Amino acid sequence: MNIEQTLSEDFLRVVETAAIACSTSIGHGDRKHSDFLAVEAMRRAMESVPMDGTIVIGEGERDEAPMLYIGEKVGMGPGHLQVDIAVDPLEGTNLCATGAPNAIAVMAASERGGLLYAPDLYMEKLVVGPAAKGKVSLDAPVGENLQAIARALDRRVSEITVVVLDRPRHETLIGDIRKAGARIQLIGDGDLSAAIAAAVSGTNVHAVMGTGGAPEGVLSAAALKCLNGEIQGRLKVDTNTATREKAEAMGVDFGRIYFTEDLAPGNHIVFAACGVTKGNLLEGVRMFGHGIRTSTLLLTHASRMIRFVDTVLVTAGEQVTVRF
Ligand code: FBP
Repeated sequence: MNIEQTLSEDFLRVVETAAIACSTSIGHGDRKHSDFLAVEAMRRAMESVPMDGTIVIGEGERDEAPMLYIGEKVGMGPGHLQVDIAVDPLEGTNLCATGAPNAIAVMAASERGGLLYAPDLYMEKLVVGPAAKGKVSLDAPVGENLQAIARALDRRVSEITVVVLDRPRHETLIGDIRKAGARIQLIGDGDLSAAIAAAVSGTNVHAVMGTGGAPEGVLSAAALKCLNGEIQGRLKVDTNTATREKAEAMGVDFGRIYFTEDLAPGNHIVFAACGVTKGNLLEGVRMFGHGIRTSTLLLTHASRMIRFVDTVLVTAGEQVTVRF
């Protein structure tokens, strides 16, 4: 049985279900409730997926997350495909709660061992699309990377847009990007959707730089591998000794640069992201008369599928009128 063929349609349904569930809370100002709605809906929708799944990137450790915790078994269980699962039921909880763009519901799967078991730490990231893949380095100065990206895209550095999370920790990085002359798009949250956008031409996102969540880094790698883009990540040493020691016990090497292939080494990958609020790449959930419309990106690696799926779910028995 092929993971990609067997699971794609189900993953589409799961992320659509999670996105629709939390969309009812868009703009209500309660990020925890938004997250709860997405997590609960995703967990329930996964019960009918024909897989014997284990969560490797989820909502946290078992003692801190009631659902979709790391190690939790999901899907129909034994007898079905054995897969590792990475989820972010609502990437950008604040974006959803405040009605800001680019909140998405995300999940990915691969064969066992195909997605890095990354601890919930920060990761320094550098993301580029297919043209600049192999031409940048997390070890190189920011200005050099920007020149390499500009050359690869046949543009001036001043025409390159870098997405950076708006955080005080990025003061030096922002200064370096400005000194090099590139444009910065500061975002409040959501470096995963920015990473996907960097690998899709026409989004006007050419790179993502800065430090964000390591779990989002692994999910980014799953998408970038399917889109032929690149992520390089370095886990940030946690100041908390217990957290640091636990990460080291898991095999984390804090000095090392993890490349796309290290973060998502699987041969077979399915990745699905459904828009919750309208974004660069995906529409948000739209409710109308007797239907709900969603916009999803569905990717596979080995079978090279890239689908933008526009779904209308008819919610009432009556005939629905769909507008283009
Ligand atoms: P949540 O969806 O969990 O709120 O995470 C959003 C996010 O902005 C990620 O996209 C990013 O990687 C991370 O949080 C950054 O963490 P922090 O907000 O601590 O800087």
